[in-house]
Amino acid sequence: MDRLKDKVACITGAGSGIGRASALRFAAEGACVLVTDLRGDAAASVADEIEAAGGVAQALAVDVGVEDQLAAMIDRALARFGRLDILYNNAVDTSGKGRADKDFLAFDQARFFEIVRVNVLGGVLASRMAIPHMLKQGGGAILFTSSCSSLGGDVAQFSYGASKAMVNWYVQTIAASFGKQGIRCNAILPGVIETPAMKAWASAAMTDAFLDVTNSPRLGRPEDIAALALFLASDEAAYINGALMRADGGLSCAVPHVQVVRHLLQPSS
Ligand SMILES: NC(=O)c1ccc[n+]([C@@H]2O[C@H](COP(=O)([O-])OP(=O)(O)OC[C@H]3O[C@@H](n4cnc5c(N)ncnc54)[C@H](O)[C@@H]3O)[C@@H](O)[C@H]2O)c1
Repeated sequence: MDRLKDKVACITGAGSGIGRASALRFAAEGACVLVTDLRGDAAASVADEIEAAGGVAQALAVDVGVEDQLAAMIDRALARFGRLDILYNNAVDTSGKGRADKDFLAFDQARFFEIVRVNVLGGVLASRMAIPHMLKQGGGAILFTSSCSSLGGDVAQFSYGASKAMVNWYVQTIAASFGKQGIRCNAILPGVIETPAMKAWASAAMTDAFLDVTNSPRLGRPEDIAALALFLASDEAAYINGALMRADGGLSCAVPHVQVVRHLLQPSS
């Protein structure tokens, strides 16, 4: 229960899904958590949950697409808790812009830049602001939630997938730039995780199809990702830097035709 004892964590997009589960888990393991989200009410409700369970949390409304708000976020962590050990860049554009990308021939530049502003720049700028403080402290852990969508081409959500591939590049670059000085930067690449964002996007038929191609008995839960985030944020992961860790239930572990062959091998009833 004390894997993050005496540490201060700041999490973006923590009002829901993976960010929320991570905030609850980090706090349960002893961290003081700055719970931030575009929706201040959602952040406040998660901070209330943490405090009700005996943890320490502060909520803050933060749009990661706005540089001044990122600066205020880092300032608030330092003002309230006196240090910053863990920055978890998890927020994603949930406006639906990503889902509108269905036809490459209708590629929309404005949509691309808006998605990159939130999904990439948000975490990159927050890291740039946090790193000087981490350096003064002698180290820190930075996490990003990337996606398995970053690993290959797609037939939709082009700007989302591209934004996550960019995240992977920045994660490795931050890791290389500051690893010698004790700052670790790692990415989690979730597969299909049943969060509000995923449920808003996927129909029941898509959900069934995702389960079919996932080499696990079930789809992912926010708590599955929170468990990996906890490990990567903790000192147990001291030698893990610049990693792009898939947490996808085996979605990307096999050749693409596995589910076809599996169905062929099933005895007909
Ligand atoms: N759920 C999945 O299947 C899945 C798969 C791969 C990657 N991911 C990644 O996991 C992360 C979390 O996603 P989730 O599924 O938990 O989503 P979610 O919708 O449950 O939570 C996302 C949160 O981000 C907040 N947000 C939206 N725009 C913001 C902004 N501009 N600034 C700050 N906060 C903002 C939302 O208010 C929301 O609370 C994202 O980076 C997403 O790309 C999710």
